Amino acid sequence: MRILSGIQPSGRPHIGNYFGMMEPAMQLQNEGDAFFFIADYHSLTSTHDPAVLRQNVRDLAIDFLACGLDPEKATFWRQSDVPEVTELTWILSCVTPMGLLERCVSYKDKIEQGIKPSHGLFAYPVLQAADILIFDSNVVPVGKDQKQHLEVSRDIAMKFNDRYGADLLVVPEPRIRETTATVPGLDGRKMSKSYDNTINIFEETKKKLRKKIMKVVTDSTPVEDPKNPDDSYILQLYQLFADKEKVAEMEASFRAGGQGYGYYKQELFETIWEFFLPMRARREKLEKDSDYVDGVLEEGAKKARAKAREVLDRVRNAVGM
Ligand code: ADP
Ligand code: TRP
Repeated sequence: MRILSGIQPSGRPHIGNYFGMMEPAMQLQNEGDAFFFIADYHSLTSTHDPAVLRQNVRDLAIDFLACGLDPEKATFWRQSDVPEVTELTWILSCVTPMGLLERCVSYKDKIEQGIKPSHGLFAYPVLQAADILIFDSNVVPVGKDQKQHLEVSRDIAMKFNDRYGADLLVVPEPRIRETTATVPGLDGRKMSKSYDNTINIFEETKKKLRKKIMKVVTDSTPVEDPKNPDDSYILQLYQLFADKEKVAEMEASFRAGGQGYGYYKQELFETIWEFFLPMRARREKLEKDSDYVDGVLEEGAKKARAKAREVLDRVRNAVGM
């Protein structure tokens, strides 16, 4: 079974990325042939400063390794080191109906957020389909917001197979973990770099992390009153990090009243800080070992490229090249 996922280097990863994609993907490292990559071609749709892009790729590589991506088990590379995917993108573009892309909400969302519409932004899901299909991927772990893009990838694979021959391309399955499908941000909307509501995995300092947690939106129930645990973002976030007993304790305390939200935020803050401490230590080491990080990406690119070549040759042959 081939497991594949990618993440854009468009800023530092946050806990939505961690629980929605990174952690579920890393769990699958043990269940099949795992392929993970840094989607820098995709980032060109939004990151236009070359120095920033380079730095983001480097930071994200270190972040992912620090969080537990194991290069002994998983192949890890930078998307642009496998340029074969851009050739497949073109070939797939020619079987992709316009309507399929016109229906994509992520394109409309991004334009609403002020990203200038470009052909690249519009064709983004075709490049994503190529990423997936060029490795004969079976399973793609992602957060819920990527569901539609996965449907587009499946549609494109089926259209291609219809036109050129059954079973030429593997039709991939999304793997969305229901419990962490959409992690809320500080304001309760989906946590996202584009909403400025993120808690990063590696906030610069403990103080900065605390400051962020204190911003989690709450209602204005007075300190002494009972509080509703069911629609509290504090608890939704706490559940990601704390064990069941701790969560039950906090819920009971909410219901009992007598504590202000600040008290729970402090608990949330300490729990998050401790959760990422071992990864933070690994990150510090990796940061000093550029050769190791470069070596992992280089080795990964070699392996990924060999597989991509094989599928691309199959496709080229099928279409008449
Ligand atoms: P962002 O919205 O912050 O730009 P990305 O689009 O780079 O995040 O997402 C990378 C991966 O993380 C994708 O698989 C995406 O589905 C997942 N992801 C992003 N935000 C969340 C979230 N708030 N909850 C769950 N998964 C998320
Ligand atoms: N579009 C994905 C995101 O924003 C990133 C991505 C690019 C991806 N190619 C992929 C995810 C292939 C899974 C498979 O999160």
